[in-house]
Amino acid sequence: MKSTLSVTIGLLAAVKSVYGHGYLTIPSSRTRLGSESGLDTCPECTILEPVSSWPNFTAAPVGRSGICGYNARVSIDYNTPANTWGSSPVVTYNAGQTVDVQWCVDANGDHGGAFSFRICQDQALVDKFLTPGYIPTDAEKQAAEDCFTAGTLPCTDVTGQTCGYPADCTEGQACWRNDWFTCNAFQASERRGCEGVDNAALGSCFTTIAGGYTVTKKIKIPDYVSGHTLLSWKWNSFQTGQIYLSCADIAIVGGSGSGSASSSTSKPASTTLITSTKSGASSSATSTKSGTSTSATSATPSASCAAVSTVAVTFEEKVTTTYGQNIKLVGSISQLGSWNTGSAVALSAAKYTSSNPVWSATVNLPAGTTFEYKFVTVGSDGSVKWESDPNRSYTVPQGCSSAVSVSSTWK
Ligand SMILES: *[C@@H]1O[C@H](CO)[C@@H](O)[C@H](O)[C@H]1NC(C)=O
Ligand SMILES: *[C@@H]1O[C@H](CO)[C@@H](O)[C@H](O)[C@H]1NC(C)=O
Repeated sequence: MKSTLSVTIGLLAAVKSVYGHGYLTIPSSRTRLGSESGLDTCPECTILEPVSSWPNFTAAPVGRSGICGYNARVSIDYNTPANTWGSSPVVTYNAGQTVDVQWCVDANGDHGGAFSFRICQDQALVDKFLTPGYIPTDAEKQAAEDCFTAGTLPCTDVTGQTCGYPADCTEGQACWRNDWFTCNAFQASERRGCEGVDNAALGSCFTTIAGGYTVTKKIKIPDYVSGHTLLSWKWNSFQTGQIYLSCADIAIVGGSGSGSASSSTSKPASTTLITSTKSGASSSATSTKSGTSTSATSATPSASCAAVSTVAVTFEEKVTTTYGQNIKLVGSISQLGSWNTGSAVALSAAKYTSSNPVWSATVNLPAGTTFEYKFVTVGSDGSVKWESDPNRSYTVPQGCSSAVSVSSTWK
């Protein structure tokens, strides 16, 4: 513990300006409501620090931060209801429903790491956080934290969602990365600064430090029913020894499980809402950064469709070539040559025109496979030119889509 702490403090000291910060905005978290009511003058400052936050997401005891966060700057403990939050659910979801959720990151906030959405199915533990006038003990906060960790909602539960760098990723998997922001302000040799995750505009959500932008994801509500429970959001920072926590009061009613029910999720007026296709497609910041977009050609799951095991993934790469050059696709899985350009997949120039220079190839891949890849230009002399870093990343959707396409532009 001692050594972890001193390493963490050393890291913090090395990072000159520890900006960043984020909080859950959709559904309206207690923190957001605290900010909108004027009580909390820095909603993005609810931080558990200094702690070990990476790569072991659960190493740090949650302490007084609890699952809903403690904002030391303004001395607000969000783990207990107050006048403007916590007395009733802000939204009602259906069990099994897929819904949009969103959080806000400060524009100076490229700390990397991984974030997760979580639901604890032990009502007695959650009730400690719903009782007016009662502040849960640290032991109760930790018990709830453990339950919420166990109830992490896998990014991959949502059909067609590109997961990028989810917290349920483990070391050794292609998704094990820490650069899912497009902010690119750390470890970047060029193009430093923010562009916004998922192409979200700077200023699309409220923070007090530098203004924020939204990160939109979809989650699948579990088959669980509660008149009043909590949705927890947790972000383990890669760059700093910090963990950000927020929670929102929600209700879950018995649902069809089809994922088609509508939700009454509130939306902040200042938020640029990302369309679902866009947010699903470019949730991997690396892809956004390099101009990748993904579309599922039959993305709507229905209760009756059969889950497919293999998906025909069509890669389209826009790149202007000269006569004799060829474009190939190489990546971390055997179907893409296991990074060996000699075994790379050749793209076809059949659709190539001077105004729309598209090379394409379709590869059948197992649903759910996550991998990294790049395009290479192979000259007539056999010379190989790679795209620039970082690697592209993709997860083949799991669901009913038997064909998807992934479009990108040479970088
Ligand atoms: C993460 O930390 C917790 C708490 O110290 C520990 O119990 C767990 O084994 C660790 N996990 C890994 C993968 O090291
Ligand atoms: C891309 O993947 C290759 C092969 O795994 C790896 O050697 C390289 O470091 C990766 N590049 C980046 C920027 O992560």
